[in-house]
Amino acid sequence: MLVLGIESSCDETAAAVVSDDRRILSDCVLSQWEEHRAFGGVVPEIAARAHLDHLDHLIEEALRRADVTLNQIDLIAATGGPGLIGGVIVGVTTGKALALASGKPFLAVNHLEGHALSARLAPGLDFPYLLLLVSGGHCQLLAVAGVGRYERLGATIDDAAGEAFDKVAKLLGLGYPGGPAVEKAAKQGDAGRFALPRPMQGRPGCDFSFSGLKNAVRLAWTALPSPSDQDRADLAASFQGALADTMADRVKHGLALFQQRFPGPTSLVLAGGVAANQALRQRLSLLAARHTATLVAPPLALCTDNGAMIAWAGLERWRLRPVADGFDFAPRPRWPLDPDAVKLPGAGVKA
Ligand code: KG4
Ligand code: ZN
Repeated sequence: MLVLGIESSCDETAAAVVSDDRRILSDCVLSQWEEHRAFGGVVPEIAARAHLDHLDHLIEEALRRADVTLNQIDLIAATGGPGLIGGVIVGVTTGKALALASGKPFLAVNHLEGHALSARLAPGLDFPYLLLLVSGGHCQLLAVAGVGRYERLGATIDDAAGEAFDKVAKLLGLGYPGGPAVEKAAKQGDAGRFALPRPMQGRPGCDFSFSGLKNAVRLAWTALPSPSDQDRADLAASFQGALADTMADRVKHGLALFQQRFPGPTSLVLAGGVAANQALRQRLSLLAARHTATLVAPPLALCTDNGAMIAWAGLERWRLRPVADGFDFAPRPRWPLDPDAVKLPGAGVKA
């Protein structure tokens, strides 16, 4: 079975062809960084127009690289939300049009489900597992018990982790996208120089918070009379260290909760762009080892937004229930993975 996956929910336009034997036949991703750089963040209107300009060429390219025609594709999966609605509309409309023209089934995939299942593209990851999803728009810990069986154990109560990286990078004048820029600057810095808070550390449950940390960085930065490159690097390193500490504390509670519910060997799976951060990976790998868990960190190309994860999630859904979405599917700006998420504030969960 061959699936075409389309992703357009944020600032990456992506298309990929994936087979049911876990082969990624093609994975084309076009980042819009250049379009958004001047604004220091993603501008939804510009993103939507860029998806519109590039998506059809990218799909052609994905089919060409996979050496298949649209006729050989068995299922067309497009991100149906959550995300910036202009971009989601472009992807969903393109997916529906291709499905209509080729007579193939269309599936709208939840972007978060794409991230949640992407690590299964590599062989050997069975359910259940604990997922840390950390991206520009999301920061949550999920127990993934099976396809469509997600329980949110905790989530951020303010900023997403990637958002915190992006805002700190903007403040320090490090450019966009922020995560890689902060990580690069932090390599030259002293993480012990600035005493920054570790929000939520030691609290029960596994919710996250980053806005206090971000504000502390702002105060430290504005207190410097004429900041040098070394000041900038030290503050980047101190921020990254504090974020990794607070993240590790929250994940520790998440592991305890997860292990109560699912005794036995535990896999801690990373997803989302922030999972590219090496300092964070190191912290979490030590933590996992201390809690008899294995850290599963997919290749970077699968952590950040891509079409292969959408194709794969579509495929996993289809195998479970081969029913297409109607052409009346309406793109969703919000689409929680766990329908009970709003009723399950992580802060109330005892770890
Ligand atoms: O998953 P993703 O590609 O897009 C979504 O937000 O869905 O994640 C992008 C986010 C951005 O906030 C970016 O700054 C962050 O991931 N990021 C990183 C790193 N690489 C990307 N954050 C920290 N360290 C990195 N190396
Ligand atoms: Zn994403």
